[in-house]
This record gives sequence, C-alpha cells and structure tokens, in this order.
Amino acid sequence: MRAYYYDNIPGDQRLPHDYVPSRPVSEDTLDKINVKHWTIPVEGYESKVNALAQERGYKNRDTINVSKEGLGEVYEQKIKGFFEEHMHEDEEIRYILSGSGFFDVRETPTDAWIRLAVEPGDLIVLPAGIYHRFTLDEGNCIKALRLFQDEPKWVPYNRTADTDVNPHRVNYLKSVGVGA
Ligand SMILES: [Fe+2]
Repeated sequence: MRAYYYDNIPGDQRLPHDYVPSRPVSEDTLDKINVKHWTIPVEGYESKVNALAQERGYKNRDTINVSKEGLGEVYEQKIKGFFEEHMHEDEEIRYILSGSGFFDVRETPTDAWIRLAVEPGDLIVLPAGIYHRFTLDEGNCIKALRLFQDEPKWVPYNRTADTDVNPHRVNYLKSVGVGA
C-alpha cells in the first residue's frame, strides 16, 4: 500500500492525485491518526486473515464487489456517493482481494487528505470516527472482504457540524491527542 498526500487539484477522483514530486506519508504518520494496515498475500490468505480476525475480534465478514459492469447505470452516482466525506461509529476494515482503489483519510489536526492506494493483499483498518472517503481508480473495479465484529451499522455520517460532535468522533479526536 502506498500512502501520500492528496494534491487537491480538481478533476476526476479516480486519478492518482499525487503531488509532483510525490509527498509520501510515513508509517509513523499513519500510526498517529490510528490507521492500521497489514499486507497479507492473497494466495493462501485465509489462515492469516482468520488469525488476525480472531486476534482483533472480527467475528463476521462478507465480500463486496464494486465495478462498472456490476453496478451498470448507477455506477457514476454510486462512486460519487462513496466519495462524500464521512465517518462511521464502527471501524471500517477492508481486505483487498482483487482490483484496486483509493481510501482518503483526513489527517488530524492538519485536515490534509492522505490517500491510501490499496491493492490485492492490503488489509486496512480505519478507526471509528475518522473522516474518510473511497473511490475506485481508473481500473474501475475492486473486490474486498469487509470484516466486522457483531452487527455493523455501516451508517455513513457525512461531515457536518453535528457529526463533528458525535461521541465517536469526539472519542477519536481524544485518541489521537486532539480535543479535550
Ligand atoms: Fe466509510
């Protein structure tokens, strides 16, 4: 997985949006915002993903498939929706099986976008309360496992003044050393 600062240049969200020259983001920076990731080769991934799931208490999982072919006419609208800045009250855990895409996460307290370019074998955990968004890249397809603890709510809370004071958002800010 490659992590770098998003260039904020208007245009197709599916383009890399990498500064020239690129501004890579270190492991340390991702640690500070509580974003976790592992690389587990897809060939024979089951036992390693199972072990990690057990260790972290992810009891359930399903598979999602996002592609132009799969979604047909609603494709453009759907991927615009995924790209709305939002947070959840649960962790967002994804293991990429095929295809690729970009998760953008907000760095705190700079509010800069960090782009995570994910590909097969990447497992990422976005903490509850972090603002983020997702887009496919120009490959236009991704297949991923979603791992979760009990019954995830999957509710996206778009960024608003109300969401800013959601207890899960406030807890997240505390966990990264920002806010009271
Ligand atoms: Fe999300």
